[in-house]
Amino acid sequence: MKKRFYVFVALIVLLLAAPQLFAQYNRDLVVSVMRDNVRLLGEINKALQAEDFYATALSLMELAGGSRTLQQTPPPGGSRAEWNRIHGEMIDAAFRAVGACGAKDAAAVQAEVANLIALRNEGHSKFR
Ligand code: HEM
Repeated sequence: MKKRFYVFVALIVLLLAAPQLFAQYNRDLVVSVMRDNVRLLGEINKALQAEDFYATALSLMELAGGSRTLQQTPPPGGSRAEWNRIHGEMIDAAFRAVGACGAKDAAAVQAEVANLIALRNEGHSKFR
């Protein structure tokens, strides 16, 4: 009787731990988002120089979308909470930059782009 209880408890523990055990780093997805990020930073700088705030905002939202996707996948190693925080801050900075596009404030957009680059550097120092 006791044995059946232990088997039952072990089964519950296994079920609860399963998502953590099987959550695997998706390298193809991360590399694809990273290459999009490089392209998008280029597009953002180009559009900003031309004072095309509409195109700038579209590329910023695409960049935020990539960070949102990565927030939902595990890091290659290290702290999941830290991974989520950095991607969350990328999204926040992109949102603020979109707001600055609405105000047609190129300097404020530029300041948020600098934040995005600082977050990239932080992400690479911790996870790459
Ligand atoms: C605008 C922001 C970013 C840009 C432009 C960028 C760019 C890149 C590039 C060019 C690569 C190499 C991809 C390849 O192999 O072709 C890379 C790899 C990587 N980046 Fe980023 N990155 C950004 C943000 C981040 C952030 C925020 C994180 C983490 C929080 C991060 C984590 C990584 C990791 C883990 C790899 C290695 C992928 C692998 O080979 O397994 N990156 N990034």
